[in-house]
Amino acid sequence: MNNLKLGVKKGLMSLICFLSYGKWNFRDAYNIIYEGQTKNNHSKEIFRKAFGDEYPEDVENYSFVTLSDLNNITNHLSLKKGDCFADIACGRGGPSMWIARKNGAVLVGVDISDNAINSANSRTEDFGLNGRAKFKTGNFYETGLGTESCDGAISIDALWHVPDRTKAFDEIWRILKPGGKFVFTSWDGNIPFMPDDHKDSLNESGFKILVYEETKGWKERQLAVYKGILESKDILIEEMGKKYALPLIKEAKTTPPVLEKSKRILVVAEKIVS
Ligand SMILES: C[S@@+](CC[C@H](N)C(=O)[O-])C[C@H]1O[C@@H](n2cnc3c(N)ncnc32)[C@H](O)[C@@H]1O
Repeated sequence: MNNLKLGVKKGLMSLICFLSYGKWNFRDAYNIIYEGQTKNNHSKEIFRKAFGDEYPEDVENYSFVTLSDLNNITNHLSLKKGDCFADIACGRGGPSMWIARKNGAVLVGVDISDNAINSANSRTEDFGLNGRAKFKTGNFYETGLGTESCDGAISIDALWHVPDRTKAFDEIWRILKPGGKFVFTSWDGNIPFMPDDHKDSLNESGFKILVYEETKGWKERQLAVYKGILESKDILIEEMGKKYALPLIKEAKTTPPVLEKSKRILVVAEKIVS
């Protein structure tokens, strides 16, 4: 991607971050979000109500992942006990620890937020994964993981933060063993001036796309969460304090119009080596 285009996209991402979370970069924004997540019991109620049977009870994700997504991702990864997988932009690690608990694989998670990483490392025992899951700071362009060190990779609701998708996919391609699957959820059409979908970038990086589908019922659930947040904003401010509640409230206000033209997708791509 040429430098001018990339500069414009980076600037746009910063602006989106500022409008949604009141910070100019995602690292600072998410450090505050994750500090606040531990003080936030009421938002669990909001998610529980919006998600119904699809609510992943002990996961404590900061995303719109459902129980069906987690089961589908586990099946698509098709890893056996002792295989290794990476979770890029893992947050507090709940979704990938849920998967590792189910498939017996070894997990390494990477995120830009050090608060997220500290919290993820402190939760491994809760999932019975001591010694089988570890988390460290890193980013989509430089994960810090070894070349061909992973049998699979996932990313949940996070790729939309990245201005240069091909660069992120190149890095994930690098860390995967040949034939390894990269399974992710994100949104198409939610960022202005970005390609309509992720297909060209995946192909450019050498991935073969096996599944590219819209996740069922995502928009109803996401809108119900935002409605719940706006209806409970006084409770959230009282429970968490303004510093932590305002980013949630801002997101709930600014995102619904964007969703009209967006699609939440689940993608399975395989590393092909010719
Ligand atoms: C919506 S949250 C999803 C977190 C987690 N996957 C989950 O489901 O709970 C997005 C995550 O992306 C991380 N993130 C944002 N930009 C990133 C980047 N360039 N590299 C790595 N992580 C990033 C944030 O810190 C945050 O944890």
